[in-house]
Amino acid sequence: MPTTAILGLQWGDEGKGKLVDSLCADMDLCVRFQGGGNAGHTVYPEGKKIVLHHLPTGVLHKGCINIMAQGMVIDPARLLDEIHEVEARGYALKDRLLISDRAAVTTPMHLSLDGLREAGADKVGTTKRGIGPTYSDRYDRIGVRMADLLDKEALAEALQRAIAVRACQMGDSAPTVQSMIGPLLEMGNRLKPYVADTALTQSEAIKEKQRILFEGAQGAMLDVIQGTYPFVTSSHTLASGIPAGAGLYLGVDDIIGVSKAYCTRVGEGPFPTELNDASGEALRQKGGEFGATTGRPRRCGWIDLFALRYVCRISGVTRLAITKLDVLSAFGDLKVGVGYEGWNQPGLPADIRRFSALKPVYKTLPGWKEDISKVRGAGDLPKTTREYLRFLEEFVGVPIGIISVGPEREASFFTAGAPKG
Ligand code: GDP
Ligand code: IMO
Ligand code: MG
Repeated sequence: MPTTAILGLQWGDEGKGKLVDSLCADMDLCVRFQGGGNAGHTVYPEGKKIVLHHLPTGVLHKGCINIMAQGMVIDPARLLDEIHEVEARGYALKDRLLISDRAAVTTPMHLSLDGLREAGADKVGTTKRGIGPTYSDRYDRIGVRMADLLDKEALAEALQRAIAVRACQMGDSAPTVQSMIGPLLEMGNRLKPYVADTALTQSEAIKEKQRILFEGAQGAMLDVIQGTYPFVTSSHTLASGIPAGAGLYLGVDDIIGVSKAYCTRVGEGPFPTELNDASGEALRQKGGEFGATTGRPRRCGWIDLFALRYVCRISGVTRLAITKLDVLSAFGDLKVGVGYEGWNQPGLPADIRRFSALKPVYKTLPGWKEDISKVRGAGDLPKTTREYLRFLEEFVGVPIGIISVGPEREASFFTAGAPKG
């Protein structure tokens, strides 16, 4: 299949990075199309951990070209640190990394604005990477773009425009053009070899039928429109975000939606199947559920199949990837959310107060005792695990295509649907 996407179906951290890493061995191009340094994608190339924030995970495969497309927001200081770290690990990026000249730039002002906003009463629990203010500036048409970092006059103009609008929010703490322009230009100069019109590169690649993987960040429930607004990120995380974010029109052939076998969330906002008890703590400890970007403990709960079915429909998911199945071993009975009390609609409420009031209805399924972390084929899973997967697949109505039972590269396998028998 020439075009594939890996998208999160929950509130992020589903194990997207690990799966992108597995699939990139056979890809020509890996494209990040939204988000920025708020992402934290954990991978274990050659058994040693690395966490990618801005860089597409394909950087860990020497035959793969990596694109940071125009839908992204980029903090040049953190990106340069990441490039340094990845190159120090032996993955040279020269001629393998392309950064869109139209991507939005996060400046120190955006970091301050994110901090100011989060210090208030209506905080979202952001990663404080300046994501919201950077996207706001783009849509307010006062943003700085990668191309501006390469031209002193353009940058001065762009910074002045943004400061003029933002000053009323920042008061005395508003920065000056002089305080920001020097370091930004210097970083622009270092990033210059990578900056390109990436939409053109991709359109050429599509014409040549190259294999392209679109790497999603965050998850469907954090989508700025369709997610649990206002407790969301500021970008389009669904498949519909790919064309505009990547900068081309195309239908993606294979949309792989990733879900943990349970569910987590970081930051504020409703989470109907959250477990504030010993089971939630056990999931956190067994699953190592601490943020890859901020280190915050992740909130944990049962998988919500009702929400999963909804986001699969609106994102056109063609295959499910179920990760962290190993974490559920020896858990006793397992619950899965199949609806909400008194809620008879096929979708989810748009109003956050109604969403927050949802009380889940569970189905209880038998668990399994066996350690499955060494299993490498769907048919070798215990019978109860296979039944669990089958229930999940039938409820959601999308075939399971990948199963993951550990953080390592080799700890996932393809399957043509939930294993039978
Ligand atoms: P991403 O943001 O979707 O790429 O996911 P994160 O990297 O933030 O979080 C997923 C965490 O789970 C990482 O620590 C991975 O190493 C780990 N992980 C991924 N898949 C599995 C799995 O199948 N089993 C276990 N036990 N850990 C996994
Ligand atoms: P990956 O790609 C989990 C959450 C934050 C907060 C909300 C808004 O690793 O799955 P932002 O900084 O984007 O303005 O924060 O979104 N969030 C994530 N949660 N994984 C992520 O990325 C996230 N990126 C943002 O915790 O609730
Ligand atoms: Mg993550």
